Amino acid sequence: MLAIIGGSGLTQLANLEITSRQIVRTPYGEPSGPLTFGRVGGRDIAFLARHGYAHTLAPHEINYRSNIWALHSRGVKCIAAVCTVGGITPAHPAGSLAVPDQLIDYTWGRRSTFFEGAEQPVTHIDFTNPYDETAREMCISAARDAGVAIVPGGTYAATQGPRLETRAEVDRLERDGATIVGMTGMPEAALARELGMQYAVIAVVVNSAAGRRESAGGIQLEELGKVIEETMSKVRLIVAKLVER
Ligand code: HPA
Repeated sequence: MLAIIGGSGLTQLANLEITSRQIVRTPYGEPSGPLTFGRVGGRDIAFLARHGYAHTLAPHEINYRSNIWALHSRGVKCIAAVCTVGGITPAHPAGSLAVPDQLIDYTWGRRSTFFEGAEQPVTHIDFTNPYDETAREMCISAARDAGVAIVPGGTYAATQGPRLETRAEVDRLERDGATIVGMTGMPEAALARELGMQYAVIAVVVNSAAGRRESAGGIQLEELGKVIEETMSKVRLIVAKLVER
């Protein structure tokens, strides 16, 4: 089964015909909210609002382990994770979408593995290509079918937040090769890999990153709401096509 993890601006799927809501308990605590199961166009799908259904969890407060564990425990094999980001390079203006193929993790202090504790053997996962190629292709072709432009690549920088970055920090991310920056892409991707799940990100660019283009003089947070809303309507079109696959 496919699951959508919704980020800021996507706390529910309008076209989802809900069949059940489940509160799942996990060894890692409670997920961000109940898992929602339902049908889109006759196909089963699961949905979870990453920040909680009332958007109350900041990126560093999200229990990523329990979210991923809960989805896995209910038979989810593939995740399309929607993440809002800032665009660093000119290929990623506000209002655009991307399916990154690489990431760099700058987060700290998050519980980022299932393989810890006295009873767990030390386990390393291969993370050369952090996103699943089949899941990425699925998102890219769903966008194509929906007639929505999407950049089929890029490097996602995962920062700690919840504050936005300084201009110098974004300069460094750019020197490192990052093209978009967000706060929720890790450890989610690594945890999905640890459980053998397919995982890809649909990145929604809602602003130019600090010091770039229209954000040269600062990021106008009041203006983000409109961009998020407009761009999420494109994400909904993609999700409708994703489910048909
Ligand atoms: N930086 C980090 N995370 C974000 C941004 C940003 O500019 N925009 C949306 N999420």
